[in-house]
This record gives sequence, C-alpha cells and structure tokens, in this order.
Amino acid sequence: MPDKARVAILVSGSGTNMAALLYASRQPGCPYEVVLVSGDKADCGGIALAEAEGVPVARLPKLSKDELFPALDAAIRAAGAEYIALAGFMRVLPADFVSGWDGRILNIHPSLLPRYKGLHTHERALAAGDSKAGASVHVVTAALDDGPLLAQAEVAVQPGDTAEKLAARVLIAEHQIYSRALAEYVSRPYNSEWLTARVGDLAIQMPEAEARTSHGSPGWKLAGKSGKFFAFMADRHHGDRHVLLVVKTSGLDELHALVEQQPEVYCKPAYWGAGGWIGLILDRPDLDWDHVRGWIERSWRAVAPARLTRLMNVADEF
Ligand code: GAR
Repeated sequence: MPDKARVAILVSGSGTNMAALLYASRQPGCPYEVVLVSGDKADCGGIALAEAEGVPVARLPKLSKDELFPALDAAIRAAGAEYIALAGFMRVLPADFVSGWDGRILNIHPSLLPRYKGLHTHERALAAGDSKAGASVHVVTAALDDGPLLAQAEVAVQPGDTAEKLAARVLIAEHQIYSRALAEYVSRPYNSEWLTARVGDLAIQMPEAEARTSHGSPGWKLAGKSGKFFAFMADRHHGDRHVLLVVKTSGLDELHALVEQQPEVYCKPAYWGAGGWIGLILDRPDLDWDHVRGWIERSWRAVAPARLTRLMNVADEF
C-alpha cells in the first residue's frame, strides 16, 4: 500500500461517526487519513470536534442546495481528497455530485439495508416488530441509500426499546463497522484478491474463456484441452514488486519499448517475460480498467482460433 488514501468527511450533526473514523485513522497501519471535515451546518458539533482535533475544516455559510454542493465539491477537491465519507450528513446528494465521485463516496445508514431507507429508521423497525435493527455501510449511488453494501452490524431489539434507546445502541455498532469498511474499501486497489476477481470478471467475458490455474497463479484460457492461455495474474511473483496482469504482446521489441516508455504502467515479468508476455501493473491508484479490458481482449485475440476472432471482427463492425 502506497500513501494513505485521503478522505473528506461530511457531517450535519454531532459527528460521532466522524470521530470514530478520525480516531481509527490515527491508529498505526490505518490506510486512510482525514484531510477535511465539512458539511451543511457550519456550527454543528461534528465540525467543532474536528476543529478541536486539528483536522482542516471548511465551514460553509448557509447556502441554497444549488450553491451548497458545488461549494462542498470545490472544498473537497481543494483538500486533495480522493474519497468522501458521509457521517450523519443529512442531505440528499444531487446526481451530478455523485457522478463526479463515482464509486468514491461511502455512507453509513442506521438500518439493515435494504430495509428502511430514508429517515426514522428506528421508529419503523420498532413499529414493524423487528427483532433486529442495525447499521449498514454502503457505496453511494444516485438512488437514496441504495448502493452496494460493504458492511452491516446487527443490533438486537430489547423489550421496552424506544427509538432513542435503540438509536444509541445502533450508534455504538456504527462506530465499529465504519472505519473498518472504509479502510478495506480504500485498500482494494492494492489488494491482489480483489484485483484478481475484477480481472476474472473481464477475462471470463471473452468468448469461450475459462479460468484455470497455471503454476499456482490464476489464469484464463480458451476452453478445451488445446485452448491456450491469454492472461495470468502474478502477485509479487519471483521478486516482482507489484500485482501484475500478464498478457501477450507482439514480441520482445514491443515489450521492451512499452516498459521503457511507461515504467509505471508496464514491466517485464519474471518467467513469462522471456516469451513476450508483459506485466500490466494493477496495484496503482490511477488504474484505468478500460485499458485493462483492452489488453485482455488483445491478448485473447492473439491466441483465439480464427473461427472466434472472425466473429469478434464482425461484431466490431456494428
Ligand atoms: C447516525 O446514526 C447515522 O447513521 C445517521 O445519522 C446519525 C449521525 O450520528 N445517518 C443517517 O441517518 C443518514 N441517512 P453522528 O453525527 O453522531 O455520526
């Protein structure tokens, strides 16, 4: 893992989740740091607490919705944040704000999603007679409280519970899961299991592709006994420093030229390099997955039988 991921936190209230994220960030080994705390209420407890803790804060004046989100966006970008964690931020994010941070906003919500999106979650759980309440951390998408779940914690409903009592216990559970989920999420781009799963999703989409281990490394090949390999994963293999996708170039001339021109993107992998297979470095922050997909396709074409590549070429014409 290289530098710590830079996270901005947005709050509207007391900011206990913000505090939990912040204190976790100061423990050894935490992969993120908090570079800004802001929100829609300049005088809320969360912003005061962040300030007392020496975290940069952006206290915005009272703004209309049309002004608020561009102002938040500007402050967050000026702080150099790469991720946004919503921590009791009680405003619905406009779609253009979300799309500007696609897959980089996390939220914590006080229910076991998909149950009870929106407000008054504890009242609704009690009214429904649920035996379990809880909290969820999810990736923010344009639809409210709806993105992919990253973590959940269940909290038992007790006899005589009120919404306030339940909320207080759920909050304790929230503080346990948010920093863990955030830490795991920002570490994904460097995690070889996660990278392998994403490469696998792309590779297996190629016609007649199948997954097969080769010399202990995950690989993908054309189906059938004589089907050739077109991609491998190499996880810090034979002294390589990186997690690599190994794919086929036209030969050593191209391989050496690419490695020389873009050493941050390509390397000559141990073992496979001699045969003209190049290593595409996956564990880097600015990885472009379309570029990865392009190499997988190219490598597949290089080994696929003409019967299949002809079909691909026809499909490309449309
Ligand atoms: C938390 O319970 C959080 O889950 C909830 O607001 C509370 C904020 O507390 N968030 C939402 O309801 C978002 N829809 P905090 O300010 O002490 O972290």
